[in-house]
Amino acid sequence: MDTSKVRGDFPTMRKGRGVYLDSACQSLRPDSVIRAMTEYYEEYPGCGGRSVHEMSARISLETDETREKLASFFGTKDPNCYIFTKNTTESINTVAFGFGLKKDDAVVTTDTEHNSNHVPWLVLADAVGIKKRHSESGADGEFNIENFKSCMNGDVKLVSVHHASNVTGCLIPVKDVAEIAHDRGAKVLIDGSQAAPHMKVDLGRIGADFYAVSMHKMLGPSGMGVMYGTSEALEGLRPLTYGGGTVGLATYDHANMAPVPERFESGLQNYSGIVGAKAAIEYLDGIGMENVAAQDRRLMRRLMDGVSGIEGLRIVGPSRPDRRTGAFSFNIDMLGSHDVAMMLDKIDRIMIRSGMHCAHPFYESRGIDGSARASVYLYNNDEDVDRFAKALIKVAGTFGSH
Ligand code: ALA
Repeated sequence: MDTSKVRGDFPTMRKGRGVYLDSACQSLRPDSVIRAMTEYYEEYPGCGGRSVHEMSARISLETDETREKLASFFGTKDPNCYIFTKNTTESINTVAFGFGLKKDDAVVTTDTEHNSNHVPWLVLADAVGIKKRHSESGADGEFNIENFKSCMNGDVKLVSVHHASNVTGCLIPVKDVAEIAHDRGAKVLIDGSQAAPHMKVDLGRIGADFYAVSMHKMLGPSGMGVMYGTSEALEGLRPLTYGGGTVGLATYDHANMAPVPERFESGLQNYSGIVGAKAAIEYLDGIGMENVAAQDRRLMRRLMDGVSGIEGLRIVGPSRPDRRTGAFSFNIDMLGSHDVAMMLDKIDRIMIRSGMHCAHPFYESRGIDGSARASVYLYNNDEDVDRFAKALIKVAGTFGSH
C-alpha cells in the first residue's frame, strides 16, 4: 500500500491539518466520498423508490448498487440483507426493540461493550423484564470464551457482542461465539463498528444473524450506518419506525408491510449518505482490507514501541500491539485523560480522544475514570505515530509523576 498516495486522496491530509489519531471515533473521508455526495446534491437530488422521473430513477439505482457493493464487500449473496440506518446505535436498537424479547428471556453481552450495546438491554430489562448477563474478560480486557460459555443457559435468546472493542481494540472470536449461541438456540448480533473498518469481515463465514457497522468509521459519511441481517432473521424482526416506504398498501384499517429491506427504511432516506457509503466501500475495496489490516498493525507496533519507555504509562487493554486492532488506550500517572489530549493538541496538533469512550461500565468496574486513546487508520504514516510518541514523552516528562 502506498501511504503517501493514500494521504493525497484525503483533503484534510493534503491541507496538513495536524495528526489525526481519532479514527476509532470517526474517520477522515477521501475525495471520492465527498465528490459522490456533492454529485448527488448537484446532479440528481431526487428521492429513491418513489417518483419515476430521471433523478429519482438514478438515486434508486445507486441505492440498489450500494446494497450490491455491501453484499460483495462482506462476502454474502443477497443485497436485500443490508438495511440503511443512521449508525450502529440505531441498528442495535432496531434489533433490540424488534426482536420480540419477553420477560425472562436472557440477552448475553460482554463486560466491554459500548453503551450502544448496553443501554438498550438495560431499558428492556426495565420495561419488559428481560434478563441481561455479560461475560467477564481477563485483567487485560481480553474476551474469555469459557466465561462466555458459562453465561449461556437455556434462557438465552440473543447474544449481542462487539467484534472489536473501542477501548482495548481486542477482537472477539465471533465465529465461535455464533456457533456456541446457535447450538443453544440463540441468535447473534455483532457490533462490528470497530472491526469492519480494519479487517476483512466475511459475514458468510462468521454466520451471525445480525451485524452492524457505522460508515463514518470506514471513510463514509456521518450519520450513515448499515444493519446486515440474514433473510430469516430480518423476516422475524419488527421495524423500529413505520411510515412511508415501509408498507405495500395501507387502507384506513390495515397496512401490509413492504418486503425487506424497504420495511426497515421509513421515510425519505439519507441518499447522499448512501452514495457516499458506496464510494467508501469502493475505496476500501480498491486498497484491499488485508492491506488496511497490515498497515494498522504496523503502525500500532511502531506507536506502542515509541511510547514503551514512558514512566507512569498505564496501558488500558493488552500490551501486545497485535491484539489492539487500531486503538491504543492509556493513561499517564497523575494526569487526567482530557488534559493529556488537550496538551497533545496544543503541543503538536495531535488529535486523539479522551474520557470513557461510551464504555462506562468497563472503566467503572476497573476503578478508572477514563483514558486517552490514539487510534490509527490507513492514511496515517510513521511520522504521525512518531510525532505522537514524541509529544507524549514530553507531556509525561513535564507533567507526569516520573
Ligand atoms: N464509539 C465511538 C468511539 O469509540 C464514538 O469513539
